Amino acid sequence: MTFTVPHTALARLETQVQDALRAPDDNARGGANSTLDVLGYGEITLVLRLRTAEGSFACKRLPAFPGQDRFDRYRRSLDEYLRLLTERGLTVAPTEVWHTRGPGGRVIAYCVQRELPRERLCSRLLHTQDETWAKNFFARFLDGVDAAVHPGLGLDAQASNWMDVGGELTYLDVTTPLMRDARGRERLDVRLFFTSLPWILRDAVRVSMAKSIFDKFYETRGVLLDFLGNLHKERLGALIPAFLEQANARLEKPLTADEVAAYYRGDARMWELIQRLRAVDRFWHRTVRRKPYPFLLPPPVDR
Ligand SMILES: Nc1ncnc2c1ncn2[C@@H]1O[C@H](COP(=O)(O)OP(=O)(O)OP(=O)(O)O)[C@@H](O)[C@H]1O
Ligand SMILES: [Mg+2]
Repeated sequence: MTFTVPHTALARLETQVQDALRAPDDNARGGANSTLDVLGYGEITLVLRLRTAEGSFACKRLPAFPGQDRFDRYRRSLDEYLRLLTERGLTVAPTEVWHTRGPGGRVIAYCVQRELPRERLCSRLLHTQDETWAKNFFARFLDGVDAAVHPGLGLDAQASNWMDVGGELTYLDVTTPLMRDARGRERLDVRLFFTSLPWILRDAVRVSMAKSIFDKFYETRGVLLDFLGNLHKERLGALIPAFLEQANARLEKPLTADEVAAYYRGDARMWELIQRLRAVDRFWHRTVRRKPYPFLLPPPVDR
């Protein structure tokens, strides 16, 4: 164990989250009027800060598990993912899982990490540091990605998923373990992790569509394409030419600026669609089914 999870404080945080989910006002769910302290936004969820006497923690709420079995399976796969990434030389933020019982045998769980200094987030450093720093970062990044990624082990390596602390690139985004079996099937409980996307991924056809969304995470070229494309979203497009030169020195099939731009347009459209579908689903939950919508959604992103 790398640190002790603050159990009582997490139970209190979960109560606050439940209250926020029931609140009628979007602003209360992570917005300005919220009692929730938001550390960061991902595509799927919010990361909450929890301050305690033992320090400050980053808490990532997982989709509710229907029962103990599904939760146990997730926990084992997360542990294995952390172990495999570490074996392949990556530094991963120490991550613990906290859980509690919800209604009807459900399990509510969080991935918990120590809070790392926000100014060391790589998507931020790429704005605040100079080009020499950026190139040095990208060289270390390429080494890390290339050593880690293979057909059974994936990475979602966008700049906002890394911190540079103590001279060490540290990977943060481990809540969705990207591992595939020998037949190339996702080992993640894909359905569970996409329960916030109920309409697009309801049937088998659509689940197999998800395969193509995930493919890129399992090969260096795809991970780099995704990283570079996302620089557009981060308003860091000016760095792309220098990074392309560095990346292409190692790739068999070089990447081009056009390919990166086209990829980003496609990716941005996909996420926009997903965000819209979720907003519709949330509306449906609240006004037609008259139930609280069970996810904290990040605010719309300017793409
Ligand atoms: N340990 C941490 N310390 C400080 N800030 C963090 C930490 N972990 C995450 N964050 C902040 O939260 C943001 C999102 O975190 P993370 O990438 O882990 O989740 P995510 O992108 O929502 O995951 P997913 O997209 O898989 O749902 C990060 O970009 C960062 O700003
Ligand atoms: Mg992320």
